[in-house]
Amino acid sequence: MVIVSDPSQRALTGLLKLLADGTRLRILGLLEREELSVGELSRCLGMAQSRVSNHLRQLRDAGLLAERHAGTSNYLRLSPGDGLAARLWVSLSEELAAVPEHGADLTRLDLILAERRDREDEFFDRVAGRWDTIAGDFATGQARQRALAHLLPRRLTVADLGCGTGYLADALRPLVQRVICVDRSEGMLSQARERLESRSEGASFEFRQGEFDSLPLADGEVDGVVASMVLHHLPDLARPLREMRRVLAPGGNVAIVELMPHREGWLRPALGDRHLGLEPADVLDGLRRAGFERVSLDPVDDRYRPVGPEGQTAELPLYLARGTAPAA
Ligand SMILES: C[S@@+](CC[C@H](N)C(=O)[O-])C[C@H]1O[C@@H](n2cnc3c(N)ncnc32)[C@H](O)[C@@H]1O
Repeated sequence: MVIVSDPSQRALTGLLKLLADGTRLRILGLLEREELSVGELSRCLGMAQSRVSNHLRQLRDAGLLAERHAGTSNYLRLSPGDGLAARLWVSLSEELAAVPEHGADLTRLDLILAERRDREDEFFDRVAGRWDTIAGDFATGQARQRALAHLLPRRLTVADLGCGTGYLADALRPLVQRVICVDRSEGMLSQARERLESRSEGASFEFRQGEFDSLPLADGEVDGVVASMVLHHLPDLARPLREMRRVLAPGGNVAIVELMPHREGWLRPALGDRHLGLEPADVLDGLRRAGFERVSLDPVDDRYRPVGPEGQTAELPLYLARGTAPAA
């Protein structure tokens, strides 16, 4: 009798014994191709689950399988690591054709996988109408924005005029190459700087203190201009809109977010508003007079919801006014 005392030799003989079994080879041959539940595996093999489970336990104990739990099912796949078992399996898997049932196992596997695909398709057909509710608010998160932004060329330089604390400039971060933040308030600019310089990815940021009537930007310096919730702070529109046109390169776009006219007088002292909103027609007219083309109005669903120092609240409609500087 040969007594095996060397641990590595014991491991080898243990493994060889385990693999010297037609059913276990068939199981490994299937799990090499596809992750399967115990039920699916039993159907592929045409065997009772109890018998299959017994073999699976031995293969799992020998570290040849990885297991994943999903709901009430356990899914298994071949995972022999990178040691002796993996090396043995490389040679054995080339010889699987010699196992008589292997071909039929693969045919049944194809059928089972086709059924699985059909079930998945049926599942999505069934839930399509309710999917957005079931999937929750995934559609509003950062992932979709970043994924889509990744597809766009980031070549633009944009000026955020009256940038305030810079949240809009922050939203431009994944979309453009450079953002020039302009505001007359040193306090606002330093808040914007703090927000925007805390992360390094995406656009580069520049901060310039200055007035709308005489923007601290060179002629044609930027490809786009955004002015959000700013124009109602200004005494007059004509000169600021001409300034916007001056700093835009030919073909560049302007986007203005403004408040519809409203009656919430407390916004004057609370938020420093000079006008209680602006008539869209006046803004569009001002853009045309300043030389913009393709001027248009885009109503938006968002509401502005300011909160006053004495707990006053309001819900005010917004709009987007757009225009394009003439091409050269
Ligand atoms: C209501 S905040 C808007 C900030 C930001 N754009 C937003 O969408 O929330 C208005 C900003 O415009 C700036 N501002 C007001 N009048 C200005 C002027 N004449 N020139 C430059 N900036 C001005 C203020 O300092 C303030 O930061």
